[in-house]
Amino acid sequence: MFGLKVTLLAAALTPLAVAQNETDLCCTALAGSSLKARLLYPGQTAFESRLDSYFDVKQQSLTPSCIVQPKNTKEVALTIKTLTAVSSAKSCKFAIRSGGHTPYAGASNIEDGVTIDLQYISAVQYDSKNSLVKVGPGARWNDVFTTLEPLGVITTGGRSSTVGVGGLTLGGGISYFSPEHGLICDNVLEFEVVLADSRVVTASKTQNPDLFTVLKGGNNNFGIVTQIKFRTFKYDGMWGGLVVYPETTIQDQFKALIKFSNNVDKNVKSSAIVMPVYQSSVGADLILNAYDHAEPVVRPAAFDEFLAIPGNVSDSTAVTNMSDLAAALEGSTTSSVYFGTLTFANDLRVMTEAHEIYKDVLANLKARATGDWQIYVLYQPLPPAYWKDSAARGGNVLGLERFNGQTLCLYQPYISWQGAEQDALFQQAGADLVNRIRAYAVSIGADNPYLYLDYADNTQDPLTGYGAENVKKMKAAAKKYDPKQIFQKNVPGGFKISKVA
Ligand SMILES: Cc1cc2nc3c(=O)[nH]c(=O)nc-3n(C[C@H](O)[C@H](O)[C@H](O)COP(=O)(O)OP(=O)(O)OC[C@H]3O[C@@H](n4cnc5c(N)ncnc54)[C@H](O)[C@@H]3O)c2cc1C
Ligand SMILES: *[C@@H]1O[C@H](CO)[C@@H](O)[C@H](O)[C@H]1NC(C)=O
Ligand SMILES: *[C@@H]1O[C@H](CO)[C@@H](O)[C@H](O)[C@H]1NC(C)=O
Ligand SMILES: *[C@@H]1O[C@H](CO)[C@@H](O)[C@H](O)[C@H]1NC(C)=O
Repeated sequence: MFGLKVTLLAAALTPLAVAQNETDLCCTALAGSSLKARLLYPGQTAFESRLDSYFDVKQQSLTPSCIVQPKNTKEVALTIKTLTAVSSAKSCKFAIRSGGHTPYAGASNIEDGVTIDLQYISAVQYDSKNSLVKVGPGARWNDVFTTLEPLGVITTGGRSSTVGVGGLTLGGGISYFSPEHGLICDNVLEFEVVLADSRVVTASKTQNPDLFTVLKGGNNNFGIVTQIKFRTFKYDGMWGGLVVYPETTIQDQFKALIKFSNNVDKNVKSSAIVMPVYQSSVGADLILNAYDHAEPVVRPAAFDEFLAIPGNVSDSTAVTNMSDLAAALEGSTTSSVYFGTLTFANDLRVMTEAHEIYKDVLANLKARATGDWQIYVLYQPLPPAYWKDSAARGGNVLGLERFNGQTLCLYQPYISWQGAEQDALFQQAGADLVNRIRAYAVSIGADNPYLYLDYADNTQDPLTGYGAENVKKMKAAAKKYDPKQIFQKNVPGGFKISKVA
C-alpha cells in the first residue's frame, strides 16, 4: 500500500519536475535519437569554442541548453521532427546558425533553448556542366572562393572571408560582383529547404516558386535552408584594396561617390565603399575607402574621381584575388558590435548632414567611451543594376523595383567596443546616427523606406521596409509552408513576418 502510494506520487511529480526545465527536455529528446552524437553541452570545450566563434560578444554570451550539429539534410529534418514532437506546456525553442555573423544577441543563438548549428553542412561543389556551385549554408565565403578561384570561375559572394553563406544570402547579399550580376540572393538557382513539418523541398523558379521568392530577403521565416545552388561565371582575378585619407577630404569623397554611383551601369566591374572611421587605438579621424574591380586591371577609369583625391596616408590597392580581398576584411570575434542601417537618396545634402551628425555622435563617444573601440560608417552605392535581373530570375521580396530605377545610398554604422557596461552607450550612438539622419532625409524628401536586413539592428523593422505587397507574399508563404507557425513562435531570433502589421 505504502509502496503504491510512493509510486503514484513519483509518477505524478515526474512530469511536473520535467516541465520546469523545458529546454532540457528538448535536448533529452535529441539525445534519445540518432542525433545523440551531434550534441554539445555547456562546459564541453567544443561547445565553448562554438560560442567563441560568434562574431559578436553579445551573441557569445547566450548559453543554449545544447547545440546540435547535424551533418546532412536528413539530420536537419530529424532535428526539426524531434524538437517539434516534444509535447509539454511550452514547446522547444531553437535558433538557426550558419556563419554566426549577425551582431545582435539572439539572431542565431539562444539562451535556454537549442541552437541548430549548420557548421558541418558546408560542402562546396562546383558543377562545371551546369555552371553552378552547390554550397552548404554553414560554409564561410572563403570556402566558396578558394574552391572556385583556381577553376577560373566565381560566384557573387560576400566581401569578408569568415561570414556565413546561409544568413548573408537569405537577407539579400551585396558582392563586389553585384554591379554586373546583381544581389547574391538573385544568383540563387535553387534552395533545398527543411520545412516545419520536416519535409525536404526544393525551391526554385519552377518548384515551389512562391517559397523561392520569399526566401530571398525573408531570412529564417519559412524553413531551414540546407543547400544553395548559385550561378557561376568566368573570373580571372581582381584589382583593389583599401585606401586611407585624412578626414578633411570628406566632401571630395562624397562627390566622387555620388558620381560613381550614378555611373554604375557604365562600369559594371567596379565597386566602391566610403567609410569615415575612428579607432580609439589610433586616435585619428580618417576616411577608409574600399575600391574593388572584378578584373585584374590596375586603376581602372571608373575610379578616376577617387584617384584624383590627393593626400592618402596608405594604399593597399593591387592586382589580387577574391580570397585575398576577403581575408583582408575578416571580422574579429572579440568585441560587442552594433550594426544598423538606413537607405536614402544618392544626394550630397544627406551625406553632408550625415557626416555632421557623425562628428557630433563621435565627439560624445570620445568623451565617454573607455577601452578599445572603433566606429566605421559605410556609404555604399545601391543602384538599380543590383536588381535589374531579379524578376527574370524568380524575384525576391526586397521591394527595390518599386523605387523606379532610383540610385540609392546604403548607409551602415558599424561600431565595436569592449564591456557589457558600455552596451547602452554604443547602441544609443548607433540608433542616434540612424534616427537623426533619417529625420534629416525626411525633411528634404530624400528618405527611402528600404532597410537592408543583413545590416539591420533588432530594433529596426526591415520586413516592413520591403513594402506592403511583399509583406503580403511573405505572410501567405509563412501560412502555407509553416501553418503551425514553428518558425514564428519557436524560433525567436531574426525578423519575424508575424510581427509585421
Ligand atoms: C565582417 C562582416 C562582413 C560582412 N560583409 C558583408 C558583405 O560583404 N555583404 C553583405 O551583404 N553583408 C555583409 N555582412 C552582413 C552579413 O550579411 C550578415 O551579418 C549575415 O547575417 C551573416 O550571415 P551568417 O550566416 O554569418 O549569420 P547568422 O548569424 O548565422 O545568420 C543570420 C540570420 O539568418 C538565419 N539563418 C542563417 N542560416 C540559415 C539557414 N540555413 N536557414 C534559415 N535561416 C538561416 C539565422 O537564423 C539568423 O537570423 C557582413 C557582416 C560582417 C560581420
Ligand atoms: C535545465 O537544463 C539545463 C541543461 O541540462 C541545465 O544546465 C540547467 O541547469 C537546468 N535548469 C534547471 C532550472 O534545472
Ligand atoms: C590569391 O593570391 C595569393 C597571392 O596574393 C595566392 O597566394 C593565392 O593562392 C591566391 N588564391 C587563389 C585561390 O587563387
Ligand atoms: C596614394 O598616394 C600615393 C603617394 O602620393 C600615390 O602614389 C598613390 O597613387 C595614391 N593612391 C591612390 C589610390 O590615390
